[in-house]
Amino acid sequence: MKKKTVVLGITGSIAAYKAADLASRLVKQGLDVDVVMTAAAQQFINPLTLQAITHRPVVTAMFTLHSAMAVEHIALAERAALLLIAPATANIIAKIAHGFADDMLSSTALATRAPIVIAPAMNTQMYENTVTQANIAKLEERGMTFVGPGEGRLACGTSGRGRLTELDEIMQAALLALNPRQDLLGKKVVITAGGTEEPIDPVRFITNRSSGKMGYALAKAAVARGATVDLISAPTSLPAPVGINLVPVRTAKEMHAAVLKHTLGCDALIMAAAVADYTVADPAIHKIKKSGEKLVLELSRTTDILGTVQGNFLKIGFAAESRDLVFHAREKLEQKDLDLIIANDITAPGSGFNVDTNQVTLLHRFGQSEALPLMTKEALAHIILDRVKALWP
Ligand SMILES: Cc1cc2nc3c(=O)[nH]c(=O)nc-3n(C[C@H](O)[C@H](O)[C@H](O)COP(=O)(O)O)c2cc1C
Repeated sequence: MKKKTVVLGITGSIAAYKAADLASRLVKQGLDVDVVMTAAAQQFINPLTLQAITHRPVVTAMFTLHSAMAVEHIALAERAALLLIAPATANIIAKIAHGFADDMLSSTALATRAPIVIAPAMNTQMYENTVTQANIAKLEERGMTFVGPGEGRLACGTSGRGRLTELDEIMQAALLALNPRQDLLGKKVVITAGGTEEPIDPVRFITNRSSGKMGYALAKAAVARGATVDLISAPTSLPAPVGINLVPVRTAKEMHAAVLKHTLGCDALIMAAAVADYTVADPAIHKIKKSGEKLVLELSRTTDILGTVQGNFLKIGFAAESRDLVFHAREKLEQKDLDLIIANDITAPGSGFNVDTNQVTLLHRFGQSEALPLMTKEALAHIILDRVKALWP
C-alpha cells in the first residue's frame, strides 16, 4: 500500500519548535511528511531540523528555481492525504478564511481537497478577538477541524487560552482525519507479534524467522480504526506504533502469562506471534563452553497458548505452513477452537516471514475459505479486521 502523505504546515508562532516533535511522531506512524514553512515560521525554527526529521525537502518558498515544487505549485495540495497546520497563527487562519494564496501554505490550503486540521497557537486576546473567532467559525463551517488551543501559560508571559494543545491530541485529530473509519471504537483487541526467544544459556537462544511485521500491521490498523490495542510483542526490530499499549515479552512462557493477563475483558485475541513449540528444558546459568564433538540440548513442550486460553472473546490464529496448507490450517482451527485462521504458505514468493507482503487463505469456523491475492501486510490487516468485525455479535 502506498504511504499516505501528510502536509505539515508550520507558521510563525513561538510554538513552532514543537512542530519538530510532531513531524517525528507522524514519521513514526509510517506517514510521508512534507513540511511547508511560512517565512515567519523560519524565524522560529530552522528548516534543516524538519528536513533531517522527515528525510524530505522542506518547502520554504513558492518561487525557487531549484525546487521541483516551484514548477508545480499545487503539487503538494494534490499529494496530501491530510493538511495539518500546527502551530497555526491568527494570520494563517485569517488568510485561509478569506481565500488568500500569497504563499505556499495558503495556496496549498486553497487548492487541496484533503481534510484540513488546524491547531491554533496565539496570545489569548488574539484568539478571543471576534475577528479570529469569526474566521474559525467560517472554517469549521467549511468542514475544517480545529484542535485546541489549550489553556495555560503563554510565551508572552500571560496565562489563558491560546497555547498549542498537547501533541497527543493533535496526533489523534490527525489520525482520525486520515482514517475516518472508526468502526472498531469501543473494542479491545489483544494482538501478539514477533518470534519468541528461548534461552540456551545467558548469551544464546533459540528463535525463529518471524519479523513481527504482520502483528504490528494489525495493531496499527486496529488503532487507526478506533480500537484499544494491547500488542504483546516478542523482540523485533520494529518501532513501537503510536497509540498502542506495547507489552514486551521474550519467551513463550512470558507471552503466555501476558496473554492471560491482557485478554481479561477483551473482544478479540489475534495471535500473529510465532511462539516456540519447544523450549530448552534446563537453560545453563553460565555460558556453555566448547567441549566434545556434539552437544545435546533437551527441549520440552511449551504451553499451547491459543489452544488453552479461554474467555468470552474471538480467537484468531495464524498457520504458517510449508505444505498441505489448507489441510493443516483447518486441523489447527478445529483443535484450538478458533473463530478464524489465516493460513499462509511460507514457501510462496512474497509470502511469510520478513517480507512486506503476504498471500493467505482465510479459513472460517463454519467451513468457508477465502483465498486472497498477494497484498501488503497493511492491506491484509484491514481485511482481517473486517472479518473479525463481522464475527462480533
Ligand atoms: C516572538 C513572536 C512570537 C509570535 N507568536 C505568535 C503566535 O504564537 N501566534 C500568532 O498568531 N502570531 C504570533 N506572532 C506573530 C506572527 O509571527 C505574525 O503574525 C506573522 O506575520 C505570521 O506569519 P505566518 O502566519 O505567515 O506564519 C509572533 C511574533 C513574534 C515576533
